[in-house]
Amino acid sequence: MYNKKQDFVIDKTLAEQFTRYMEKYSKLYCSLAIEAREHISKSVKKPVIVDLGIGSGLLSIELNKILPDAKILGIDPSIYMLSIAKNKLIDAGCKNSNFVMARVENIPLKNHYADIIISRLSLSTWKKPKQGFSEIFRVLKPGGRLVLEALNKEFPKRKLLLTKFHMMVNKVEKKVIKYHIDYYKHAFSIKQGEQFLTEVGFTIIKKEGDRKDWKFLIVAAKT
Ligand SMILES: C[S@@+](CC[C@H](N)C(=O)[O-])C[C@H]1O[C@@H](n2cnc3c(N)ncnc32)[C@H](O)[C@@H]1O
Repeated sequence: MYNKKQDFVIDKTLAEQFTRYMEKYSKLYCSLAIEAREHISKSVKKPVIVDLGIGSGLLSIELNKILPDAKILGIDPSIYMLSIAKNKLIDAGCKNSNFVMARVENIPLKNHYADIIISRLSLSTWKKPKQGFSEIFRVLKPGGRLVLEALNKEFPKRKLLLTKFHMMVNKVEKKVIKYHIDYYKHAFSIKQGEQFLTEVGFTIIKKEGDRKDWKFLIVAAKT
């Protein structure tokens, strides 16, 4: 599934199976979209949002529902994920979305482009996390925010095994289970996340999640 450390290959089947699996968890996307909205200044009428590692676009669909005037740009290195995201956002009636095939380590956007960048469960596969966070910092407007949700490296192994068992019992496709478990192998802890962010100049304004949680959230500001 990946040819070397942190070089995950998402083929068409995995992209489709992952999408079907994640569609069952729309509440997770809905609550993250609401969290993101909290960090956009009310004075910004048409916020520019980057969904970094957009995957199949499920978060952007929720963002478009609650922020219909926002301009949404989805970035992902997977052509299959981007294609699904594009179709899903069209089906959802989103008129203001664009898509770019790229990696966080080299974002093809000008400085000070975005009001907010949101990245959900993508960090594990960034080859150069510090370079990625520097790029995010560069692309954000002054005062802009990063909303980062990531898998937690410290999530207890026995709980991860239980998750795997639960997925198997629920007949989740093998590729999706493997993708999920492999992502944990390369996950970071909340402390590591904070360290990357402060090193590149961000100010942490919110963090959620402790050692036992499967994921953590950090909101950081470019002050
Ligand atoms: C687990 S999926 C999450 C997708 C989506 N954010 C969601 O929550 O449904 C991780 C996504 O990150 C993308 N990704 C992997 N490496 C990346 C990188 N270096 N830069 C940007 N996105 C990346 C993958 O292609 C994949 O679509």
